[in-house]
Amino acid sequence: YHVDWDLSAAEKDGHDWFMRKEIFEQPRAVADSLLGRRSRTGRLQLDEMRLSDDELRDIDKIIIIAAGTSFYAGMVAKYAIEHWCRVPVEVELSSEFRYRDPILDYSTLVVAISQSGETADTLQAIRHARTQRSKVLAICNTNGSTIPRESDAVIYTHAGPEIGVASTKGFLTQLVACYLLALYVAQVKGTRYGDEIAEVMHQLEAMPDHVQTVLDGADAVYQLARAHTGTRSVLFLGRHAGYPVALEGALKLKEIAYLHAEGFAAGELKHGPIALVEPGLPVLCVVPPRGRDQLREKMLSGIQEVRARGAQTICLVEEGDDSIGPYADVVIRLPSVPVLLQPLVSVVPLQLFACELATALGHDVDQPRNLAKSVTVE
Ligand code: G6P
Repeated sequence: YHVDWDLSAAEKDGHDWFMRKEIFEQPRAVADSLLGRRSRTGRLQLDEMRLSDDELRDIDKIIIIAAGTSFYAGMVAKYAIEHWCRVPVEVELSSEFRYRDPILDYSTLVVAISQSGETADTLQAIRHARTQRSKVLAICNTNGSTIPRESDAVIYTHAGPEIGVASTKGFLTQLVACYLLALYVAQVKGTRYGDEIAEVMHQLEAMPDHVQTVLDGADAVYQLARAHTGTRSVLFLGRHAGYPVALEGALKLKEIAYLHAEGFAAGELKHGPIALVEPGLPVLCVVPPRGRDQLREKMLSGIQEVRARGAQTICLVEEGDDSIGPYADVVIRLPSVPVLLQPLVSVVPLQLFACELATALGHDVDQPRNLAKSVTVE
């Protein structure tokens, strides 16, 4: 009697890669990261905040520092924080931050986003910020790691251990933490949007189901990915909160499929990138949801421009939005969510696309060449 027991497959829950398993864990990871954030009176509470409301009220500038995928979460955070809190936000790569003599003081909040909590560039950046008397808040997935230990406050994400080198559930839970931070600051500062906190929390709490809906459509994305094994280059376009998603989609492909991939803000097409478009080039487009019509229409015209030059347009579009019809070669449907929260659903097909394409190309998805999960050297 022989049992074919594959320990490694068991660890991966039957998936071929940890990365794929982690992509499918995202509904749970998002739900866990939202757990216990609302008090009985409906006020938002972040237990791990060691900054007083008074200290937060005095903050007049926020600088977000991070590397890799975490940096793109920071870019989304800027849109949310500026909109909900009316506090100016800068987002900077941690490797650049301290070398340009940044303007920092006690009224600057530095937010360090790091899944591992050990990235050397980010650690050195927060050390520099603290010498300038700035407050540091860490958004981190690893309890007790160095970055949260050296910070004034921490919001822990609850993704669980992330094994795949290319970050997936780490990213989604960082987005959740960024939204929570933005809402919390809005609450403390009492901005106009402070009143909308309950509504946004409600929308956030619906996100695990929306992410699941996208995952349920994985097969169509896999098929698309397998049709692109001969592709040498892929472009990604987005606007607003969809711009960092385009960058993240391109990063995923570089990391695990070793393909040339670039993400652009769709409005910048005409200033250069459109010259790259040649017949057959796949261009993945993240279309803003309805309700942001000006934005959406500009995006549609960008899509028309690349298609007129022969690109194959693969469009991620909100369900029920048919305006894309004539300009999309392939449509991937997204659940209907507000524009600021859309990255939580729009990045998922891009993760699936990269994972499947890298698999089809025969690469080791969990251990891509030349990369490390946590980069502890500067
Ligand atoms: C490495 C990993 C990336 C990650 C980046 C930042 O490059 O391969 O997946 O996004 O580091 O890591 P952190 O742990 O600071 O978020």
